[in-house]
Amino acid sequence: MDFKRYLITAALPYANGPVHIGHLAGCYLPADIYVRYQRVRKRDVKFICGSDEHGVPITIRAMKEGVSPQDVVDKYHKIIKDSFAEMGISFDIFSRTSNQIHHDTAQAFFTKLYDAGLFEERESEQYYDEAKQMFLADRYIVGTCPICGNDGAYGDQCEKCGSSLTPEMLLNPRSALSSSAPVKKMTKHWYFPLNKYEEWLKEWIVEGKKDSWKPNVYGQCKSWLDNGLHPRAMTRDSTWGVPVPVADAKGKVLYVWFDAPIGYISATKELTNQWSDYWKSEDTKLVHFIGKDNIVFHCIIFPAMLKAHGGFVLPENVPANEFLNLEGRKISTSRNWAVWVDEYLKDFPDQQDALRYVLCANAPESKDNDFTWKDFQDRVNNELSAILGNFENRVFVLMHKLCKGRVPPVDPEFVTDADKALMLEIQQTKARVEAAIEGYKFRDGLAEVIDLARKGNKYLQDNAPWSLAKTPELQTENQKRIDICIHICLQLTANIAILINPFLPHTATKMRKKMKVVERMLDWENAGRMDLLKTNYPLLAPELLFRKIEDAEVAQQVEKLKNTLPVDTTPAMEQPTEQTATPEAAVTADAIPTIAPQKPEITIDEFAKMDLRAGTIVAAEKVAKADKLLKLEIDLGFEVRTVVSGIAMHFTPEEIIGKQVTVVANLAPRKMRGIESKGMILMAQNGDGKLIFVSPVTTADNGSEVR
Ligand code: MF3
Ligand code: ZN
Repeated sequence: MDFKRYLITAALPYANGPVHIGHLAGCYLPADIYVRYQRVRKRDVKFICGSDEHGVPITIRAMKEGVSPQDVVDKYHKIIKDSFAEMGISFDIFSRTSNQIHHDTAQAFFTKLYDAGLFEERESEQYYDEAKQMFLADRYIVGTCPICGNDGAYGDQCEKCGSSLTPEMLLNPRSALSSSAPVKKMTKHWYFPLNKYEEWLKEWIVEGKKDSWKPNVYGQCKSWLDNGLHPRAMTRDSTWGVPVPVADAKGKVLYVWFDAPIGYISATKELTNQWSDYWKSEDTKLVHFIGKDNIVFHCIIFPAMLKAHGGFVLPENVPANEFLNLEGRKISTSRNWAVWVDEYLKDFPDQQDALRYVLCANAPESKDNDFTWKDFQDRVNNELSAILGNFENRVFVLMHKLCKGRVPPVDPEFVTDADKALMLEIQQTKARVEAAIEGYKFRDGLAEVIDLARKGNKYLQDNAPWSLAKTPELQTENQKRIDICIHICLQLTANIAILINPFLPHTATKMRKKMKVVERMLDWENAGRMDLLKTNYPLLAPELLFRKIEDAEVAQQVEKLKNTLPVDTTPAMEQPTEQTATPEAAVTADAIPTIAPQKPEITIDEFAKMDLRAGTIVAAEKVAKADKLLKLEIDLGFEVRTVVSGIAMHFTPEEIIGKQVTVVANLAPRKMRGIESKGMILMAQNGDGKLIFVSPVTTADNGSEVR
């Protein structure tokens, strides 16, 4: 299906801290590649983003720093915006939700639903701080964790043992603002009846998106829908946010997840008077790029809101990525375990494309991935520089040495089959890169371009024009072959510039400038042509496209990370998505774990009978009438299997989707509650009864054997 317009959004980052490489890899880089590709295809595309300036993360950061929420968002909005700009993330607009136009748009949206009588008003008891005279969000309540005894647990989670909590579960609850014991107080809120959209969502997603949405996204949605939807409060008690636009709502603001996605609409309004052409037409392809923690909001809640409002286009796709870990640990804002983009840019000026390359080549497209500085160095030095950079450089050097610095001519009589094969290869690569980008497989697309450079290197090696130049007796004939070889390599270089441009725009521009061609050459339709550079045209001198990353630089970055590791000064700023961080074993004195006695010895052969595999949980749902059972779909690389597991008392389906586990793959199948379970997942159980997945230490490829 052909669309008239493309409306591409990237999740609005919270303006409560700088952006890190996990943000880039998860959504901004893939979105940018997609948009840049659509632009050079001359499609009508708008790329929308901005900072998310409301909600609890902002107010907590403000409190910690002793400044106003406005100060916080002003500071980080600028840092985030600058980081993106410098990395070449080419938004058409990077707006902010504290803008008046956003407040107006979000309020009008709410009012429309309110006037239609859509919201349910409900009164409920919430914790209230009498000293500060305000209601407390779960995060503002601290107390003792009932599971591990940690005295600094939050009302939504204990960061020490990783358990998710409710304020009611805390022992000794107290307000994080005043330390006084909170009281319960009645408060009224407006609930959006998500349940009324369940049937429609099932039809739209479960029926309609099975083949087009990524399995991780589809799986998470399906599991939410299978578990049933419930009304959800769309307002909060707070003074920071978009005021609820009804008469009796003093001290209440819109829930941040109600207003933030509307930010996509307000930013488009701010960008263009034609905003409704994009938002209100069936000819628009709307694509939301997000990280996996945002799936339910973009796939279920926001579409239901749009549907309830009426008149808006719905997302055609939501290609959410998994998470990027750092040196084997979950990236964490609070523990400062991150590579901040603004700091990277200071430490590696002009190395934007090196980072873009590594983050795309190693993007967590279908499972969590790990970023390590060593891998960064290896990929830059051994792939980017040694393959692409090396090819381009050799071609320029040889052209200057053997062809007087000009694009040499081609005598058709001397063209060989190998020459033709390489030219065909260029066209085929173009088609494959297109398919990859359109299918949100950016890693594959990038690998195709690198592979083309690899083929260029091989072609040069096979033809060895430098040795032809050494046999003077065959002067003219040899020169013809030299000319053809260099000519083809130069045209290939120009083609690589076009194909790499969406991924590494800084590199493409450098290449283009050395070839002295106008920007228009990078138009996608030019890929595949062998006349991009005119015969006899003089090109600039060789100059390396990439520099090597030195061991000392890697060591320095690793050192920097190590130094920041123990710092834990601002745990409250943790964003909810990061709270699932692997808990360090937290055993307090009075909770001595019991240890099971060892079982009888077995031989290595007995052990070897077990087929243990790494797999990723791609879907999970409760089993009807069985409190303890979850039905899991596990991607084993070679197939997706159903496994029924007795872990429902310990985990909700949502929280385990995307987790990597170890599966006993050759366990005899057995039926549980009528479902055939093919295999078993390995779990460890702590003395306190808590279950822990036995996952590969860093993520392994699904299907890998565990021995
Ligand atoms: N601020 C959210 C986060 O960082 C994302 C908001 S996306 C939007 O997780 F749709 F709400 F804008
Ligand atoms: Zn705990």
